[in-house]
Order: sequence, then structure tokens, then C-alpha cells
Amino acid sequence: MFATMGALGLAPTAQAAEQPFRALSTSDFTLTGRGAAKVVIVGGGIAGLTAAYELGKAGYDCTVLEARDRTGGRNFTVRGGDTTTDLYGNTQTARFADGHYMNAGPARIPQWMVTLDYCRELGVPIEVFTNVNADAYLYNESAGMTKPMRYRTAKADVYGYVSELLAKATDKGALDQELTADDQERLVEFLKDWGELGDTLAYEGGERRGYTTVPAAAGTPGVLLGDVPSASDVFASGVGRYFSFEFGFDQAMLMFQPVGGMDQIPKALTRAVGAHRVRTGAAVTKITDTGSGVTVTYTQGGRRKAVDADYCIAALPPNILAKIPHNLGSGVQSALEAITPSSAAKIGLEYRSRWWELDHRIYGGITETDQDITHIWHPSYGFHGERGILIGYYNYGGDADTYAKLSPRQREARAVAAGVKIYGEKYRSELVSSFSHHWRQTPHLEAAWHNTPGGPDDTRYQPLNEPAGRVSFAGDWLSYTDAWQHGAFTSARKAVTALHARVLAS
Ligand code: ALA
Repeated sequence: MFATMGALGLAPTAQAAEQPFRALSTSDFTLTGRGAAKVVIVGGGIAGLTAAYELGKAGYDCTVLEARDRTGGRNFTVRGGDTTTDLYGNTQTARFADGHYMNAGPARIPQWMVTLDYCRELGVPIEVFTNVNADAYLYNESAGMTKPMRYRTAKADVYGYVSELLAKATDKGALDQELTADDQERLVEFLKDWGELGDTLAYEGGERRGYTTVPAAAGTPGVLLGDVPSASDVFASGVGRYFSFEFGFDQAMLMFQPVGGMDQIPKALTRAVGAHRVRTGAAVTKITDTGSGVTVTYTQGGRRKAVDADYCIAALPPNILAKIPHNLGSGVQSALEAITPSSAAKIGLEYRSRWWELDHRIYGGITETDQDITHIWHPSYGFHGERGILIGYYNYGGDADTYAKLSPRQREARAVAAGVKIYGEKYRSELVSSFSHHWRQTPHLEAAWHNTPGGPDDTRYQPLNEPAGRVSFAGDWLSYTDAWQHGAFTSARKAVTALHARVLAS
């Protein structure tokens, strides 16, 4: 029977873990004479909701306990009227106009991630999220740049000079040990094309850099962007450091987002699970394995309550779970404490006009800077509309914590001052409202993502990768795609598959 379950992907073996996920079904119980169990799921983020959703397909009786007043966990879309209070006591209410939102947590989805499969299955429509834009800006203040540069201009110059130098080195015989004469000829041919080099193998700029007057009707051939900087100036500007981002397996275009906000995913999951199975405002206070079941106590509306179940899936962030009393053993506790929380933050800046489209011809995509705001995101929805929300910072670690210590107004002022250096005064004068969100300072989450030294399969996390009695664990932090919903989805699938196998074998 165990071998059959393994073949079905139901046995918790390493081999099974690499097999495609097989959704559970009530028919799995046919002929076994067994029935689905009662499961309490601690945490209504993506991992917890997915566990309840997938178990529900086989008829498990699931209860989800969520401490916040909404499901989704770090999948949080901020709209007008939403209120938060951070751990420093800053209360903010978003004043964004109808139809506008900021995704404070996850905001982009690569095509290969199972997140898109859940969007399809749950009927959540998606649209393209623009992760890279040739017309967005690069601005490195510490390198002495006095004005921003378009991505396309920076790429033309960096690729141009790198190509020129390599082509000239090849021409001088520097690669004779490495390449045959034919190889070198092909390499130079590639470099001439890649770097837009002339016959003398020199980079002299060209149309890839952009124009001050764009080509139009006869009589208007266009005016190329001014002087080409020297190779020395181009490398000193440091703009080349941003180009490898788009090569990343998890960041390469095309990327996607749900239409209307990332929280369409947890909303659809919550509907599919059944709202009656999800208790919000329910902060867990203790997890007890009784030997024959699990008791989870929690407070809701100031009252102490409890859920008894056959099994528990703990799908809270590890830094929060580590603070909750349990009797799962010191191995579990040490493993939880070995995983440390990381900071990240975003500010949404709402503008009365879409001046970045009108004045700068930027439609979506990301401006990069070495200022402490790190990234500015242009919205990938609502093009040509009246208003729009820029992400005025998306920063991490110390930069995120520095902004967290400021009041929301101070955060806004600091972010706007940085943006003005890139975009000019409209960055200030067109602003109507802002909302900032800092994950390390968010109650019940206290992290943007987690640091798992050695990776999730390291032996120190073994107590979390297998059930501790009747409790098992799930979350993006137990995956190789920490900080992605894909990690939460796949980790929940793994926990559910193992739990189902156990119930079938019990
Ligand atoms: N997955 C997160 C991002 O794309 C960290 O920014």
C-alpha cells in the first residue's frame, strides 16, 4: 500500500517530493474504509489557505485561525479606507482613490510559478506586470550623476564599451590561447552587433541610446541624444550593476499580476475554502499535541477559545511561531529560532496626474537608484487614467528599518525628496496622498521574508520538514523560493500530501 501511495505521490519520500503534485480527492477514501480528518490550520496566509483549500478537496474538515482581520498574510493590497497600526504605534489610513491600490507585499509573478496555476484554477484574471522598462531611469547619486539616465541609454553605452574593449583585445591577439581564429572572428562579429560597433570596432553611440527629438514624418529624421560619454565615465557611473536583474530566473519578463490587486488570490482562496471555516482576529496562544489530537487555543475579541482537531498545520512565519507556547519539543523550537526575519518596506505615492506617462513617456517598469529608496515602481495598470500610484520606495534591511523609525509624514517627505532628484518638482507638487508599509514592524508577521542559513533542507530545520507528532509546518520559509507565494503554495502542497498519506495509512 505504501508503494502504491508513493507511485500516486502520496508517500512522504524524497522521490515523491519531486513528483508533480496530485490534488487530493474524496475518492481517495473509497475502498479504504477511512474518512477525512479534522485539521486546524494556524495562519491564514497563502500557505495556510492553500492547505485548507487542498485538504478541502478531499473533504477534510478544516478550521483556519488568522490573527489579523484579513486573510492573505503578507499578500496585502492597500486600498482607500484600509487602516494599519505598526509596532511603533503609527496608525495610517489609506486615502487612495477608488480603483487604485498598492501591493504592499508580493506584486509580481513569474510565468513558471504555480501561483499562476492557482490564478487559473480560482478564476483570478491576470495582466502583465512590467518588471523592466527601457525608458525607466537609472540614477546613482554617489557616483556623481547629476541627472538620471534612461535604462536604454545606459545599456547602449555599457554594452557598447564592453564590446569595444573585448573586440579590440581579441583583435590584438589577447585571446589567441582561448579561441581559434575562426572563433575569434565569430566573437568579433557578435560584439559588433551586440555593442553597435563601427568598422574600426569603436563604440560611437547610435539610435539605441535614444533621441532628443524622435523620428517622425519626412523632414523629421530625429535628433540623437547628445554626446556619448567616455568609457571611463560610463563605468564610473556604475549603471551596469542593474542589468543582471532581468536575467534572474525569478525576475525575467514576462511577469504577471492579478487584475485589481494581488489580494484577489487570498480572497479567491478564502471563498473557495468557505468563509465559515476561517476565523479572523484569532490570535493563537498555544499549540498542544495531546497524543490523540491537537488542541489550539486562541483569543478572539478578548475571549479565550480553543479548537480540537486530529491534526494541525502550522503556517505562521517562524519568528511568530517561535513565540507561541507549544509542546512540540526543543528541536522544533531551536529550528524555528535558527530562521531569522528580514525587513522590507514600500511606500505608495498617489498622484493627481500620471505625469510619468505624460512628461517622461514611462509606462510601467522600475527606476533604480543608489539612494535609500532603492526602487521606484511605475504602475502596470490604469494607463492613461487620471491618477496613479507610484511605489516611492521598495527597500530592504537597514534602509527599510531607517524609514520605519520615521513618522509616516517623514517617510513621505524623505521618499519624495529622493524622487525629485530623478523626476523633478512634479514628484512633489502632484502628490495627493501616501501610505507606507513596513513588514518587520507589522503585528503578527514581523518580517518581509526570512533568512534560512544553509537552505530549507539543512539538517537544523529537519524538525520542521517532518511532522512533530500531529503538527506539521508550511510556509514560503520552508521552500527554495522564500519571499515568493510559489514557496508558500508548494510548501502547503507538500504538507497536505504528507498528511493525506498519513491519514490514508492510519
Ligand atoms: N519576491 C520578492 C520580489 O520580487 C522579494 O521583490
